[in-house]
Amino acid sequence: MIYATRRATFNAAHRLFRAELSDEENLQIFGKCSNPNWHGHNYILEVVIAGNIDKTTGFLIDLKVLRDIIDENVISKVDHKNLNLETEFLKNKIPTTENIAVGIWQQLVNKIPAGHLYSVKLYETENNYIEYKGEEN
Ligand code: NI
Repeated sequence: MIYATRRATFNAAHRLFRAELSDEENLQIFGKCSNPNWHGHNYILEVVIAGNIDKTTGFLIDLKVLRDIIDENVISKVDHKNLNLETEFLKNKIPTTENIAVGIWQQLVNKIPAGHLYSVKLYETENNYIEYKGEEN
């Protein structure tokens, strides 16, 4: 098994909150990410594909093709967006790094033309990231 990673970046606004709670309660649960007036993060996304080397091309997957798939299915839907209000695949979800990573996985899992989606890693800050490998792992 061989692995190929494509990295992409985007920036987006969000607010972590539950509507039924007060601002103060939301602050206790979600910290600064509950700011009622939104805030942004510079996200770093790493998409890992696993598979075998194609004997004809010597590639696992053409990384330019993977880049375009990520752009079309993920980056165009999140970059410079408000994740709570504008990103359809996060509708009715609290846009935590966990939920965004799972949403990105679902956007990509059926669209990989060679090998298969192995993991989605999403950094919200330099020090914090979430990695999702699908339901079966
Ligand atoms: Ni935040």
